Amino acid sequence: MNFIKPLQIGTLKLKNNIAFSPLAGCTDLPYRRVVNLYRPALFFCEMVKMDALTRHDKGTYRILSYTHDMHPIGAQIVGSKPKLAREAAKIIEDLGFDIIDLNCGCPVDKVTKDCGGSGLLKQPNLIGEILSEMLSVVKIPVTCKIRVGWDDQNIVAPQVTRIAEEAGAKAIFVHGRTREQGYKGLANRQLIKACVDARKVMPVFGNGDIFDTESAKDMFVTTGCDGILISRGTLGAPWIASLIEAELSGGNFAHPIDDDFIKDLLEKHFAYSKSFNDDRKTLVDMRKVTTWSYKTRPQIAEFRDRVNEAKTLDQLTALINTR
Ligand SMILES: Cc1cc2nc3c(=O)[nH]c(=O)nc-3n(C[C@H](O)[C@H](O)[C@H](O)COP(=O)(O)O)c2cc1C
Repeated sequence: MNFIKPLQIGTLKLKNNIAFSPLAGCTDLPYRRVVNLYRPALFFCEMVKMDALTRHDKGTYRILSYTHDMHPIGAQIVGSKPKLAREAAKIIEDLGFDIIDLNCGCPVDKVTKDCGGSGLLKQPNLIGEILSEMLSVVKIPVTCKIRVGWDDQNIVAPQVTRIAEEAGAKAIFVHGRTREQGYKGLANRQLIKACVDARKVMPVFGNGDIFDTESAKDMFVTTGCDGILISRGTLGAPWIASLIEAELSGGNFAHPIDDDFIKDLLEKHFAYSKSFNDDRKTLVDMRKVTTWSYKTRPQIAEFRDRVNEAKTLDQLTALINTR
């Protein structure tokens, strides 16, 4: 069975059905420039707060920076005020994004205390209201990304799927964990399947625990989802969509994934990071990216400790070059 196929989200045509998630603190411009070398069907900037965007906060605009060769690219807003969402959606469309997503999954207290992120799962009808406001001002497709519920006693994902589709959302991304779960345990694929069963025609993307071809295939088989959304699996593996696409189509990924391959990508990431950040931020980010990148390579433990102790960019570069 061929799981990989082109997919349409409203008017947006995607070359295939593997997308990359927004990841706050990770999917910044340098990350996306590296990911873009392998061009996934769709990727997102990190989430931005709708109130900060409508205040024209400079840092928020910086999060939304992208290069002309990154289309199709999505932006995601977080918050719970329908009118602000409408204003924010218009700004996103005017910035040239191809798709806009409403975050209904962020578990952070600071966000949920104002009913934003997964806090919205406590008020499914408000999700419909916010989506309707967004849809009233933009032509680009509007989507929503959810967790399956606040906790096990309050599973709302199928209900939210119906509400979102009725409001006019063009796709839903379902992370199969509750807010209470955080990132613990496994994503519940039966609940993602329940969303597939609940929708009429809107594509459902399965999300959670996709780290390789086997787990990607399992997501398709167990849930019947139309597409997959990869999150932590992209960190240190910007090529993962190409690898999964090749392997699920019966082929092989074009490059052996060895230390030289990783080193080459890290050099590019370093350069992109330096051109976007100051040296301090580049060092902090590149320590993180370096350990992610070597996570599946042998003899990583001692190397990781030394990377985390690097005090300058030169020290970090030397460590990578002598590995
Ligand atoms: C560091 C980090 C940052 C995240 N930031 C976002 C975000 O900005 N927007 C969002 O919708 N989800 C965010 N998520 C959730 C992921 O997109 C995803 O739904 C979750 O990690 C489950 O997928 P996984 O098990 O494949 O990682 C974040 C997750 C992590 C670990």
